[in-house]
Amino acid sequence: MIRGIQVEDLDSVQLLETELFSSPWHRKMLESEWQENPFSHFYVLEVNHHICGYIDFWITFETAQLARIAVAKDAQCQGYGSLLMDFMIKECEKALCENISLEVRVDNHTAIALYERYGFIKAACRKGYYEDGSDGDLMIKPLGGNYV
Ligand SMILES: CC(C)(COP(=O)(O)OP(=O)(O)OC[C@H]1O[C@@H](n2cnc3c(N)ncnc32)[C@H](O)[C@@H]1OP(=O)(O)O)[C@@H](O)C(=O)NCCC(=O)NCCS
Repeated sequence: MIRGIQVEDLDSVQLLETELFSSPWHRKMLESEWQENPFSHFYVLEVNHHICGYIDFWITFETAQLARIAVAKDAQCQGYGSLLMDFMIKECEKALCENISLEVRVDNHTAIALYERYGFIKAACRKGYYEDGSDGDLMIKPLGGNYV
């Protein structure tokens, strides 16, 4: 089940952040995404009462940006990442967004393969984009749009 994030999910999400990312979002960042970012659409994927993954995307008028997508290591390769991508794309289409963009580490081949399968195209390489100096690819997926 994909549902909006709630305060009691923050601990599980923070644990997954630490497990999955070299620069994890800390608690204050998660709280601020959840409570203070008016553009954030933050959802968790719950399976058998466990948080197996989550997605955070921003819808800013006519454009959307994928900020975070993650699936717990022991739940990967079972289609959950794809479920979360499907969900985001539907929400962005409903909001009449013209495109979705994202940044991904150039060496994150798993995520890049997933994004390419969903029609994201590399638009640019951002040198030293990440805190540790790694490069990031900017990828964009065009949508139908008609935002007014
Ligand atoms: C990227 C991520 C969300 C994919 O989640 P997932 O639940 O494994 O995704 P799916 O099961 O839907 O698989 C998507 C595709 O990636 C492939 N894939 C997933 N994990 C893989 C792995 N470790 N090695 C090789 N291929 C893999 C699957 O085979 C699938 O391709 P297919 O449908 O053509 O067979 C997950 O790997 C993850 O959380 N990574 C760490 C966090 C991260 O890097 N997030 C993205 C940057 S913000």
